[in-house]
Amino acid sequence: MIDKQIKRFPDDFSFGVATSAYQIEGSSFGGCGRSHWDDFADQNGKTHQGQNGAIACEHYQRWAEDLDLVRAAGFDAYRFSFSWARLLPEQDSQVNPAGLDFYDALIDGMLERGLTPFATLYHWELPSRHGDAGGWTNRQTALRFADYTDIVIRHFGDRLATIAPVNEPWCVSWLSHYWGAHAPGLRDIAATAQAMHYIQLAHGLSVEVMRGHGQTNLGCVLNKEFACPADDSPETQRLTLLFDGIYNRWFEESIFKGRYPDDVLALLEAYLPQGYQQDMATISQPLDWVGVNYYTRSIITPDANEAHIGFACTQGDLPKTDMGWEIIPEGLGFFIKRLAQDYAPGLPIYITENGMAHADILEDGRINDAPRIAYFADHLGEIADLVAEGCPIKGYFAWSLLDNYEWAYGYAKRFGLVHIDYASQKRTPKASYLAWQNALQNRK
Ligand code: FCB
Repeated sequence: MIDKQIKRFPDDFSFGVATSAYQIEGSSFGGCGRSHWDDFADQNGKTHQGQNGAIACEHYQRWAEDLDLVRAAGFDAYRFSFSWARLLPEQDSQVNPAGLDFYDALIDGMLERGLTPFATLYHWELPSRHGDAGGWTNRQTALRFADYTDIVIRHFGDRLATIAPVNEPWCVSWLSHYWGAHAPGLRDIAATAQAMHYIQLAHGLSVEVMRGHGQTNLGCVLNKEFACPADDSPETQRLTLLFDGIYNRWFEESIFKGRYPDDVLALLEAYLPQGYQQDMATISQPLDWVGVNYYTRSIITPDANEAHIGFACTQGDLPKTDMGWEIIPEGLGFFIKRLAQDYAPGLPIYITENGMAHADILEDGRINDAPRIAYFADHLGEIADLVAEGCPIKGYFAWSLLDNYEWAYGYAKRFGLVHIDYASQKRTPKASYLAWQNALQNRK
């Protein structure tokens, strides 16, 4: 399955696994500061059983064992993130020495194992002091993110192969301020519009700082969700386009074309910060690659109760993962083609996340996660077809190395190639890990 697909890729195509700081490190270790995810999880009913990332996978202590697993599987690259709250726990100018030591050891550990470090600067652990001051609805947060970027690059820049400032700006803005599903859990259209602009500004300011240091291989990581209309009425078609604009065009159109899409502007412009147009040049600086995170689709249904947007998102009849997310590899192909044709012709594309939650059962020390193997193989097949057609896709990262803290779902959803027993922190490679290992070892 995976082995058959992997043979179809050119030799210089990178295969890796992805993780993020808050989901695995354990935010109670090593002088890490509080983030708005700790605050969010403390609010009643916001996360599964009130769970947070305080312990997570104890990766802060067990990182060497975890990198050994990446290496032993035969992956070339490792996508990880720095925690802003760990590096700057109390104040914006006061660096936590233990945080520096941790990422020094982690990055050196990757290099020693021949793993290419793909770094993300922000995978959602906004320091609480910035959250309390308005978070991504406050322009100051974007400015402070640029300062944080400067600190990271000065210290680690020479050892990082690629860098993306922000993971999934849609989740940072829309999911967190309109749907209220992620920290800070707002349901407010004005806050949403501000966050959708300031997270883009943060991206642009961060790129500017990095270019100033001569840093190369800078990109962005955008999550995409395929949109299907529930029926073929013109109104449902219009709403489906609106969903697509909010989710899938706002971020690439501003980064690659220096403007926001008209259909979404009609909804959000009244709430955008005054003079937002002056930031568009900063937001749209040239990049070296674009990353796509892809999992599923949504079916768009008219919903009169949704005052601002007029639609709701539902699921259809396709096979689903344990998240309830439908499996539709063609959606990934759609977005890759659209990026390559409409937004970033010629720019290298990486699939920076793709994978599935599965209700894994540990039996006799083994986990037979056959559906996950099929999921990877089907998506790899879609990508291999596009590579064969000449699409400049350069790498693929499976989400995720370990079962981990799945945000509002707490520890209830398992995405890992490696099973975590949260009581003992024992790591057990699943059948999917072994399938990747077999495929990568027999690649040539
Ligand atoms: C993505 C996130 C990642 C993980 C996966 C399942 O949206 O980037 O942290 O939660 O979804």
